Amino acid sequence: MREFRPRAGQITRGPPTVDCARLRSAYPDYPTFMTDSRLIEALNARLGEELQAQAEYRAHAELARFWGYAKFAERLEGVLKEEYEHASELLNRIYLLGGRPELVQAPAQAGGDLPEALSLDHELEVKAVAAYTLTVRLAEELGEVGTGNLLRHILSEEEKHLVVLAGELTELEQMGEENWLAAQV
Ligand SMILES: [Fe+2]
Ligand SMILES: [Fe+2]
Repeated sequence: MREFRPRAGQITRGPPTVDCARLRSAYPDYPTFMTDSRLIEALNARLGEELQAQAEYRAHAELARFWGYAKFAERLEGVLKEEYEHASELLNRIYLLGGRPELVQAPAQAGGDLPEALSLDHELEVKAVAAYTLTVRLAEELGEVGTGNLLRHILSEEEKHLVVLAGELTELEQMGEENWLAAQV
């Protein structure tokens, strides 16, 4: 099978949320000025972390459903939906920049009970906020405003996830494990 390799600066076909042909005719230099390999690498690293987040949230939502903690499961499923969207947005952006998605999932870990799952998910979001902050800075240093805006949007959602999970961790600490678990049914 012939391998498909986009040339530097070439806009690939078909990202669902961006009309590439229109973009290219409106901005003839787009995206040749922004195909810095450091940005593609960083976007691929974030994509790998989104795949990790999906794997962990999926496992933990199933764990919660299995033990009858529907309220907690629903909360995780809400976050999972947004992690799916982040991965799609990153895939779309990597193609738009003429790159190739690497699809290498960062190592994921499933918790054995709900408090452990909560703590792992919290750790995941702390790292996500730090990583997206650095990637926004990189995009801005390279003058890549469009990608910077996309990353800021994802960063704001990761911050929301972090606030929710940090709140749950505080409640777990204050209420004690038994009472906290009873509130998750
Ligand atoms: Fe995410
Ligand atoms: Fe997240």
